[in-house]
Formats: sequence, C-alpha cells, structure tokens
Amino acid sequence: PVTLSQTGFVHRDQLTYPFNERGLQFGDGIYEVIRIYEGKPYLLQEHMNRLFRSAAAIRLELPFSIQEITNQLTELLERNNMVSDGIIYMQATRGSAPRAHAFPGDVPANAYAYVQDLPRNIDKLSTGVTTMTERDTRWEHCYIKSLNLLPNVLAKQAAQENGHYEAIFEQNGRVTENSSSTIYLVKNHTIYTHPATNRILHGCIRMRVEAFAAEADIPFVQQAFVIDDIPDADEMFLSSTTSEIMPVVAVNGICIADSKPGTITRKLQYAYEQDAG
Ligand code: PDD
Repeated sequence: PVTLSQTGFVHRDQLTYPFNERGLQFGDGIYEVIRIYEGKPYLLQEHMNRLFRSAAAIRLELPFSIQEITNQLTELLERNNMVSDGIIYMQATRGSAPRAHAFPGDVPANAYAYVQDLPRNIDKLSTGVTTMTERDTRWEHCYIKSLNLLPNVLAKQAAQENGHYEAIFEQNGRVTENSSSTIYLVKNHTIYTHPATNRILHGCIRMRVEAFAAEADIPFVQQAFVIDDIPDADEMFLSSTTSEIMPVVAVNGICIADSKPGTITRKLQYAYEQDAG
C-alpha cells in the first residue's frame, strides 16, 4: 500500500523510522483517525481543523497547510484505489534529533498517513456493547489528540480482559469520556455528556451527535453525569470515528434499562447513516 510520508508518497515497506524519533521517545506528537466510507472521507475538514488545533497546542509547526494536507489525503485515497470502508491514520511528530527533552532546533516535523480497510461493526451497532468504569488518571490537556495514550491503552486493555468493548473514564465519580470514544447518558428524553473542556477530546462524531439531536428536538446537555446516575439511565451510547454511534447496554455488569439499544440511540444511528452515507 502507498503511504504518505514527509518525503512524499512511498510504499509502506520503504518507510523507515529514524532512531531518534520524538514521537517514539517522548510521545511528542499528535494524530488523527478519519473514517472512510466507500473510498470517501467523512468529516475530513473537522479532523484537519482538530489536527491543526492539536499542533498549535503543543507548538508543533506542521510542514503543510490545511488545504495542502486535505488535497494530499484525497490523493492518498486515490493512489490506493480505495473504494471500501476504512480509515486514514495520520500522525505528526516534532521530528528526529539527538534525544533531549526541549524542542530540537531547526528540525522538520515527521508526518505520515496510511489507509487501512475497516468494515463497519454491523453486529455490535445492532446489539450494543458492554463497558466498565476505570479511574481517569490523565493530564489536563485531553483536548489535544496527543500520541501519549498510555492511560487509554491500559484502560482499554482492562476492559478487554474483562470481556468489555470499552472503558468509561471517571474522575471522582464524574464521567469524562471513554478510553477511545465519547460517552453519553440519556435520561427523560435528554442527552447528557461531559462539556467540551480540556478534560476530554472534542470528538468529531460528538459534534455531529449534537447536530442530530438539535434536528430531532432532543435536548443535548453538556453536563457531566456521575457513576451513580448510570443504574437509572434510560439509555447509554458512545461515539467515535471507528465505533460510529454505538449502543451501550451494560456498565460494570449493571444493565441499562432492558439491555436493548434505546429509541434515541436508534434515532441518532439513523441520522448518522443519512449523514455519512
Ligand atoms: N479515538 N475520546 C477519545 C479519548 C478518543 O481517542 C476518541 C477517538 C474520541 C472520539 O473522537 P472522534 O469522534 O473524533 O473519533 C473521544 C480514535 C478513533 C482513536 O484513537 O482510534
């Protein structure tokens, strides 16, 4: 497969990672995951806007403009003859230089992007998934889509070892988000989710969920719910680029309502299909 690197389009096998890569040594970089449906990117502009916000937040100068990278990612899909469902993964780091914590001098950023097939998770989108809670021990800048994902990795691993799809992060009982997705609770026909502060990643799908809710006259309240609200929830669901709008039917072994995807969740899934399709 063709890969986009800082030196242009190359075969993936030709991609060599320098020994002193700051992404590897310090996690000093940022990334994006963009959904592809039938070869076409979904919400590409939103993802590129967030990439540039993340870059600015870590004072990383990207070696391209939004317009340039948007064109190049489109070309990447074309060069791979992408017609199926998949993702683009892209990351940018502060380059390669002898290891020292402070920024290296005149070193260009390293960036690459690749395309990968990823079918939609039709079964789980229909039945829903189970989750468990984990303590959110992350830093105060979770709005940056940074390569530092150890707390997320450990939480997801714990969830999978317990047979769950996702881990829900909580800070002193307040729910922030999931290890790699946004989490929502529905109560009395109202959607609750953590406000878009520095404690969560501002999900591109979350933005769409807010818009779908507005179009359907469903109140969308940006207010954190707490773990104790979960047993009384009418519905729960999560969202991300790879998971879309996914029903959550149990948390920590406690069933949500009748353990079936709820009516509002279904409505939002339908709106998503219209929007992405
Ligand atoms: N994860 N919160 C976290 C911590 C995430 O990592 C993600 C995305 C989201 C949802 O963001 P979006 O709706 O823009 O996909 C929320 C990506 C898919 C990943 O790391 O694979």
